[in-house]
Amino acid sequence: MAERSRVRSAETLLKRYQSIGRVPQRGGGPGRGPGRGPGGKPKNTKDSILRLLKYLERYKFYVLIAFICVLISTGSNLAGSYMLRPIINGLVENADLSQLALSLLMMGGIYLVGVVGNYVQQRIMIWVSQSVLKNIRDDLFRKLQKLPVRYYDTHNNGELMSRFMNDVDSIGEMMNHSVIQLFSGSITLIGTLVLMLSMNLWLTLITIVFVPVVAKVGATIAGRSRNFHRAQQAALGAVNGYIEESITGQKVVKVFCHEDICKEEFGILNQDLREKQIKAQFFGGLMGPVLGNLSQITYAITACVGGILCVTQGFDVGGFSVFINYSRQFSRPINEVSMQVNTIFSALAGAERVFAVMDEEPEPEDADDALPTTEMKGHVEMKNVSFGYNPDKVILKNISLYAKPGQEIAFVGSTGAGKTTVTNLLSRFYDIQEGEITIDGINIYDYKRKDLRSNIAMVLQDTHLFTGTVMENIRYGRLDATDEEIIAAAKSVSAHNFIVRLSDGYQTMIEGDGANLSQGQRQLLNIARAAISKAPILVLDEATSSVDTRTEKQIERGMDALMATRTTFVIAHRLSTVRNANAIMVLEHGVIIERGTHDELLTQKGRYYELYTGKAELD
Ligand SMILES: Nc1ncnc2c1ncn2[C@@H]1O[C@H](COP(=O)(O)OP(=O)(O)OP(=O)(O)O)[C@@H](O)[C@H]1O
Ligand SMILES: [Mg+2]
Repeated sequence: MAERSRVRSAETLLKRYQSIGRVPQRGGGPGRGPGRGPGGKPKNTKDSILRLLKYLERYKFYVLIAFICVLISTGSNLAGSYMLRPIINGLVENADLSQLALSLLMMGGIYLVGVVGNYVQQRIMIWVSQSVLKNIRDDLFRKLQKLPVRYYDTHNNGELMSRFMNDVDSIGEMMNHSVIQLFSGSITLIGTLVLMLSMNLWLTLITIVFVPVVAKVGATIAGRSRNFHRAQQAALGAVNGYIEESITGQKVVKVFCHEDICKEEFGILNQDLREKQIKAQFFGGLMGPVLGNLSQITYAITACVGGILCVTQGFDVGGFSVFINYSRQFSRPINEVSMQVNTIFSALAGAERVFAVMDEEPEPEDADDALPTTEMKGHVEMKNVSFGYNPDKVILKNISLYAKPGQEIAFVGSTGAGKTTVTNLLSRFYDIQEGEITIDGINIYDYKRKDLRSNIAMVLQDTHLFTGTVMENIRYGRLDATDEEIIAAAKSVSAHNFIVRLSDGYQTMIEGDGANLSQGQRQLLNIARAAISKAPILVLDEATSSVDTRTEKQIERGMDALMATRTTFVIAHRLSTVRNANAIMVLEHGVIIERGTHDELLTQKGRYYELYTGKAELD
């Protein structure tokens, strides 16, 4: 019973997991995603439509052909039905068989043209819409490469994934079916109306009288089903989010024995999805039968009145048959269009979400007069730099330092002190608010971003490996590196020994961000990747935190030659790592509170001394 109370309430769960994709979160974290997320009503419909049309512009010729095909197939459908009139009249009047056969043949021919038109139209539209989707995905991916680090730090991975998958898909669905159906529906409607009017005014009026009723009922059902549909999507998002989270966090779930709670919580969300889906599907399925029955009523009334007209007014039987056929056709497009409303709404909402990513502020362009670099030497200077991720909350205060090639500068300090932040500023992942950072005497904002970053080799605190071989992963640091250079780099950082022991040595495939390696091995590959680069500035952020001290010593020795000509920034909690640094900066709450060599700092008996001797832990 005690355990039961730890299961969160249905209300809390729904609120948390339905909003998972919408709430901007810090840090991203492993892909927690919402599926499609609640697909609300689009807010800027006109804009989205215009932008979608822009994507279609390149294919306008094909779209035009597709529409002509729709015109042909809809026209032949109407004309084919009309052919019934002479056929039936001929039967009634006992016309000759050859005439009848000819009419039937013509009717078949007309329908055939319609079928071909329909086929061609579908082929073209599938091709066009898939091409448009490809272009949208290309643009979206290109945009992702341009977005600043800040964007990734404040958005959920799952949410971004869902733009690629669900939202783009829903646009495709709309282009494939809804647009064409809307167009062919409108033509059928107008064509049928004109033909009906030309045949009999009274009967036409009877048919039309029912149109507002059908439309009203259709709109009501569509409206309600849209609400249920939205609720269903939100519930689906919650279930997806929960599943994704429990898969990525499965080890933590097991370690803390949360399996039962997970099962129960999932049960709550799953049950909710079931209920929402029942409602959504029931209402979705209601539309067809209800509208079908309504049109049956119209049909019956038209048939009665038509029959009477035939008998009393001499209305021809063929015309009558064709007319009731038309009257049935007349309401069909209205039904179809109202059924497409959902798809169109959710596609437009999807398009809006996709375009919202495309409209995100990219990393600002390099200054027009940015210097085309030139290899940098590595004189790094920070002058009174202040910075906050959020301008209201300053994280780094008044940081000043100078480092020249061959020097090793270390940052130490407690968790959250701002060490990683300093490196974020150096590589311009974030822009500083005050002060100046220069490399070789030139403000880093006067360099092209690409040049700046290609002159800084970094081992990030979070290791990352791509799907590919060990060799390819190291080569990521410098694409023109030869195999021999890669092996030499791996040797220098003591990665060679473990690599050759892997099943395929340097050709071993890395799986899922290096799941088949130990954390320390992942770090070694990340260090090798930085070591292969010829960048004059090297940043190692907790690069050896998971490596044993002996290997760490070997790495240090191996990298000595490498560091002799470079400016190196090292961040480490393990203070033995930074003993040999030329200068050690002790950061505390974003301020450098002490600086000096290891020995100087020890004699100062300040914070560093406390950290080094372990006294700080006792505070
Ligand atoms: N992307 C971000 N957006 C907002 N705040 C952030 C972001 N990254 C870090 N912070 C905040 O900035 C402060 C400094 O973080 P930073 O990552 O620089 O610490 P650190 O010294 O590297 O710590 P650690 O030793 O744990 O790696 C922290 O208080 C943290 O909450
Ligand atoms: Mg850090």
